[in-house]
Amino acid sequence: MSRSPAIPELRADLLAWYRENRRDLPWRRTGDPYAIWVSEIMLQQTQVATVIPYYQAFLERFPDVASLAAAGEEEVLARWSGLGYYRRARMLHAGAKAVMERHGGRVPRDPAEILALPGVGRYTAGAIASIAFDLCEPILDGNVRRVLSRWYALDDPPGSGLDRTLWERAALLAQGPDPGDLNQALMELGATVCSPKDPRCLTCPVRRHCEACRQGRPEAFPRPVPRARTRTVQVAAAWIERGDKVLLERPAGLSPFRGNWDLPAREIPATGGKGRSTGAAGAGEAGAAGVLARELERDHGLEVAPEAQAGRARHGILDRRLDIAILPCRLLKGRVSGRKNLRWAPLAELEEQAVSGVTHKIRRALAGRPGKQPV
Ligand code: ADE
Repeated sequence: MSRSPAIPELRADLLAWYRENRRDLPWRRTGDPYAIWVSEIMLQQTQVATVIPYYQAFLERFPDVASLAAAGEEEVLARWSGLGYYRRARMLHAGAKAVMERHGGRVPRDPAEILALPGVGRYTAGAIASIAFDLCEPILDGNVRRVLSRWYALDDPPGSGLDRTLWERAALLAQGPDPGDLNQALMELGATVCSPKDPRCLTCPVRRHCEACRQGRPEAFPRPVPRARTRTVQVAAAWIERGDKVLLERPAGLSPFRGNWDLPAREIPATGGKGRSTGAAGAGEAGAAGVLARELERDHGLEVAPEAQAGRARHGILDRRLDIAILPCRLLKGRVSGRKNLRWAPLAELEEQAVSGVTHKIRRALAGRPGKQPV
């Protein structure tokens, strides 16, 4: 049974709590719609603490829509390097260009026009409209979904119209004074009090409005989404140095990595034997080295000689868990300069290059190893 909390009281309690307890986050110190847009895109799939330094550096380099729109994609991706989900950066870049073309460089105020920008979905449009323009537009992200499911004790299975109901409830809540603060308060409550496990109901500022708390079973809401099964994939990654540079590849569908530029890597096909690590020393390692050498020759005409495995790294991408054998290789033959999908990147600049989290992880795994010290 779902009871409806009284919305004006609920809003008042939530806003009072938020004003006392909100975290001081850099995007909460600005009213600039562009900066708020950047923050909301970065915050998708990414934790607040991770986003803060990226947000600050990104805005320093691209302080307004015009500077972002005028930049080359390579540089935009380089500034996104390490945040992951690079499609977000490409779409934000496309969005900035669209704002230049359609709106003379000013982020539009009309929610329908915000929603029409590349890379802007219903959540982001609602966040920009409410936070930057004080419009009574709702948001629904993972945190808000959980908070609302609990207040209203909604445990309908996902896909059964639940999202529609939640958007409707979020829209009712957004009506009233300070919709931007209200929306951020909902997210803040989800992030800091109404957590998925062990919600802090005893100190929750809105517990008197919460049906799940009244029932004494907050964790039953929302009903858990059946997890997509993750698949472990064995991968061999090549660390190929020349002087003070390392070879990077633009993955372009050949590699299991998904960055713009990453270490060359290939998936090692499973050879039977469930869950066995093909990258372990012995036949597996030889298999990894063979695949890497063959495929780099096939795809780029590079002749490489893999050496003994230097370390391992693990990295999750969507529904795949990559188990990565890191193989230092010598480049025996093959041209890199002038190639579209290969380049030498200075080791000292690797942090700033458009390489993804997985390449940074591998670099750190190697740096921690006695003997060899990549930067
Ligand atoms: N997550 C998404 N948007 C956010 C915001 N404005 N503040 C904190 N966390 C968020």
